[in-house]
Amino acid sequence: MTRNKPLRWAALMAGATAALISASATAQSTKLKVGLMLPYTGTFAALGVAIENGFRLHLDEQGGKLGGREIEFVKVDDESDPAKATDNVNKLIKRDNVDVIVGTVHSGVAMAMARAAKDSGTLLIVPNAGAGAVTGPMCAPNIFRSSFTNWQPGYATGEAVAKRGHKKVATITWKYAAGDEMVAGFKEAFEKSGGQVVKELNLPFPNVEFQALLTDIAATKPDAVFAFFAGGGAVKFVKDYAAAGLKKNIPLYGTGFLTDGTLEAQGADADGLLTALHYGDALGTPRDNAFRLAYAKTYKLQPDVYAVQGYDAAQMLGIGLAAVKGDVSKKKEFAAALEKAKIDSPRGPFTISKSHNPVQDMYLRQVSGKENKVIGVASKSLADPGRGCRM
Ligand code: PHB
Repeated sequence: MTRNKPLRWAALMAGATAALISASATAQSTKLKVGLMLPYTGTFAALGVAIENGFRLHLDEQGGKLGGREIEFVKVDDESDPAKATDNVNKLIKRDNVDVIVGTVHSGVAMAMARAAKDSGTLLIVPNAGAGAVTGPMCAPNIFRSSFTNWQPGYATGEAVAKRGHKKVATITWKYAAGDEMVAGFKEAFEKSGGQVVKELNLPFPNVEFQALLTDIAATKPDAVFAFFAGGGAVKFVKDYAAAGLKKNIPLYGTGFLTDGTLEAQGADADGLLTALHYGDALGTPRDNAFRLAYAKTYKLQPDVYAVQGYDAAQMLGIGLAAVKGDVSKKKEFAAALEKAKIDSPRGPFTISKSHNPVQDMYLRQVSGKENKVIGVASKSLADPGRGCRM
């Protein structure tokens, strides 16, 4: 008995190793489960669709595989509802056992997703929501963003508005993390340049009853207005601002979400508006031209910033997976590959900061017809400060 013990032990170990190797080989020969948690209804519905379209376009270009693995999707409509976010993300993690989560648009929902990803160690790639906390205090080795922090476009717009000589500005947005943080970024840059935010107006997300606030703006008479709205809310705000007769007297600025993916519906009411964002139309680079052509052919639609962010989420997943040969359990190696990558985005190449957020150029854009024409660079290689991130 005792004489056989080492032998039996060795045999056991060999068996266990073989089982492990075969489990990991199976894991890599099976499909990689991607949980898409996005808004498919409500004011951000079109944004969710564009993100999924972009993601699928890159996947198609790669022959349906990323890092050697075929992809299987599980989809959840998060309705941009923070109250349902924890349940929704836990369904993906615990019930569906996804390998990766891609989502979402709304900052409040994304914060719940980041918490669940951090607790479970599930890989998360955020293809829009700019909540500072996700790549700030809640940052983690398994959490990445292919989009922006709310601070980035807010800050770039603040610099641009100050450069145009405005001194007193009123801000207006939805009262939640994205609105608060874009206004804070705007204010930081604008007040650093000697400007003053004279009034901060808010309404609850996703309300679109702007009338009382527009009356307030008319009475306040600021030099200019800074706004964050997106999707359906942005369409209505821009139209209401013009209808109230404010457009010709008080110039309206915003982060580029105000006019991205919305121009068909906004029509002439958006014409001439200046915004800052990490993407725009008519960039004219070969990379962007190829992307736009492929997107338009596939979906019979023009791409927007959300489509680009979805496309780049797939590119980032591909880069990470290639480095670990499809084995998502190798989180350190996955992260290391992205931290040193240069992502060949249609927006222009970008890198990933230590806190896992894009370091990127912010363009100044002006609406002309159905395009957000890029007319300059508002902030070159703008990095979010990543405040509160310890990894
Ligand atoms: C956000 O909630 O972070 C958010 C939503 C829509 C946008 C941008 C940011 O267009």
